[in-house]
Amino acid sequence: MTRPPAARAAVVGAGLIGAGWSALFLAHGIDVKAWDPDPGARPALEELVASALEDLRELGLEGSGQLDFAATLEEALEGAEFVQENAPEREELKTALLAEIDALAPTGAIIASSTSSLLRSHITRACGDPERVVIGHPFNPPHLIPLVEIVGPAPDAASTRRAVAFYEALGKETVVLKKEARGHLINRINSALWREAVSLYQQGLADPADIDRAIKAGPALRWPFLGPYETYHLGGGEGGIRHYFEHLQPIQEERWKEMPTPELDDAFRARIIESVEKAMADRSVAQRARERDRRLLAMLKLRAKLTQQEPD
Ligand SMILES: NC(=O)c1ccc[n+]([C@@H]2O[C@H](COP(=O)([O-])OP(=O)(O)OC[C@H]3O[C@@H](n4cnc5c(N)ncnc54)[C@H](O)[C@@H]3O)[C@@H](O)[C@H]2O)c1
Repeated sequence: MTRPPAARAAVVGAGLIGAGWSALFLAHGIDVKAWDPDPGARPALEELVASALEDLRELGLEGSGQLDFAATLEEALEGAEFVQENAPEREELKTALLAEIDALAPTGAIIASSTSSLLRSHITRACGDPERVVIGHPFNPPHLIPLVEIVGPAPDAASTRRAVAFYEALGKETVVLKKEARGHLINRINSALWREAVSLYQQGLADPADIDRAIKAGPALRWPFLGPYETYHLGGGEGGIRHYFEHLQPIQEERWKEMPTPELDDAFRARIIESVEKAMADRSVAQRARERDRRLLAMLKLRAKLTQQEPD
């Protein structure tokens, strides 16, 4: 194994996402000091990390970083070269926490927040040295999904480049945003898809289980290797995206006009919950998460093989 990109990382907030990051860092030989204000977080972290490390071993990652649970935030940050913050998604909480991390972390350490939606300019406003604080947004489960979205002070800032180098040394695929936006790139795209899935149910076109089934049997099969722009380039036939716009732009614009944002009132929300819980009653969330990870592992192995075969 190549040299790890840091000797020690701090993981602040050791819930679901903190556990995934911890496992990834450990499997690359990075020592991790985790901290969480909830005393119950430690056993849950250890269990999640053990299971994630098994997955990573299947991908050939055998690194043996050491996991410690720190008693204080200060202890977790001692000697850390990279800090990954994974506290609850609340702006005031993250703003205060990042300021505290920035005050305590060694000079030169990069501080990355896993925030799914918050703006970097907002959550770094109380930091003494905001330049070293970036958003490093993973996708669940962070130990398996390759993508990390990065928002730094500028795309070519030193901290942005160092965060890119760090995550890429862990095998991640990074996308640096040119500017900040609530939800970054992919949660905005996810929100658009989710809004329409909810709206289609509200309009009575199909039930949640059928909408999920249609996605899995249809467009999701191309998503591992085709993004939306490539999809429409191919959808235009020989003429590519140019012909697609000539032929289908008016129809697309009509569809966009007919896509309302659904009203999520109490009654409709209860209807969604009832329908989803009924359709998913045969297996627990934990069983489904394990199943997801088994399938993701298989997909990642296939993806690696297909990527090797890709034309230059
Ligand atoms: N769950 C996802 O799918 C997902 C995906 C990508 C990013 N994220 C982001 O990761 C972050 C964490 O989400 P999660 O799903 O792991 O949540 P979680 O609830 O599983 O974990 C949050 C942890 O933070 C701890 N915590 C509470 N107050 C804290 C404080 N002041 N300082 C440090 N830790 C504190 C909690 O005890 C808990 O263990 C959020 O910013 C979220 O937006 C979540």
